Amino acid sequence: MQAEWGKYAEFFSKYSENPNLDCKKFVFPKVVSLINVKNKSLLDFGCGVGTYARMFRSRGARVAAYDLATNMVKTAISTGQNMGIKYFYRLNDIQTVFDIIFCQMVLVANNKNMMELAVEQIAQLLKEGRIGIFVNVNHRKIGKKFKDFYSILPEEKTIGAPYKTLVCIDEKWLTFTDYYYTDQYFQEMFLKYNLKEIHREVIKEQYLLQIVRKIEKNGI
Ligand SMILES: C[S@@+](CC[C@H](N)C(=O)[O-])C[C@H]1O[C@@H](n2cnc3c(N)ncnc32)[C@H](O)[C@@H]1O
Repeated sequence: MQAEWGKYAEFFSKYSENPNLDCKKFVFPKVVSLINVKNKSLLDFGCGVGTYARMFRSRGARVAAYDLATNMVKTAISTGQNMGIKYFYRLNDIQTVFDIIFCQMVLVANNKNMMELAVEQIAQLLKEGRIGIFVNVNHRKIGKKFKDFYSILPEEKTIGAPYKTLVCIDEKWLTFTDYYYTDQYFQEMFLKYNLKEIHREVIKEQYLLQIVRKIEKNGI
């Protein structure tokens, strides 16, 4: 996984420069309209080349960013726009818990076991009573062609089924493997790790936003 994503760092860096990405234009504004990030500690889990980490920093969050692909983190740092963001490529190096964890287009890139592990890791890194923000593919629209990317429906729509996602930049198509999950399945997985869904919304048809709160020990 780490080697696979690391290969795409340069490509991803170019892709993320595009100011017209729906994630930038529609998903991010929606997230910050729902959650006040100012002065909060925020971890961007699966930060890629750090685009959204920097955007949260600009909104006044105290940002840490983690990605298991070392090359992604190196590329994020090499932008020279450190802005006081702390970058990590080893989970064990993160020695604190956060007010907010943002995790965009990461869970869908993981097979069932890895996806569950990522949710567990996020739950461990979140303070009790605080907020997790997940952005994933809206499974109902897989197969439809969108401006920024499109995916090919898996033969069988079973949970965890792999399928291909294609992204175009500079007339070059890159193919990734994603995995099929439903919003309901994510919700159950979150709850298994004490993350209670408090908001669910589809944005621009293809994105699924789910916001969770970590249940406190007294059950709230
Ligand atoms: C599609 S990119 C999304 C990057 C960024 N969140 C964004 O929205 O631009 C997926 C990223 O998640 C990282 N990733 C995938 N699975 C991960 C995991 N289990 N733990 C940490 N990072 C992961 C990959 O290395 C890659 O950089």
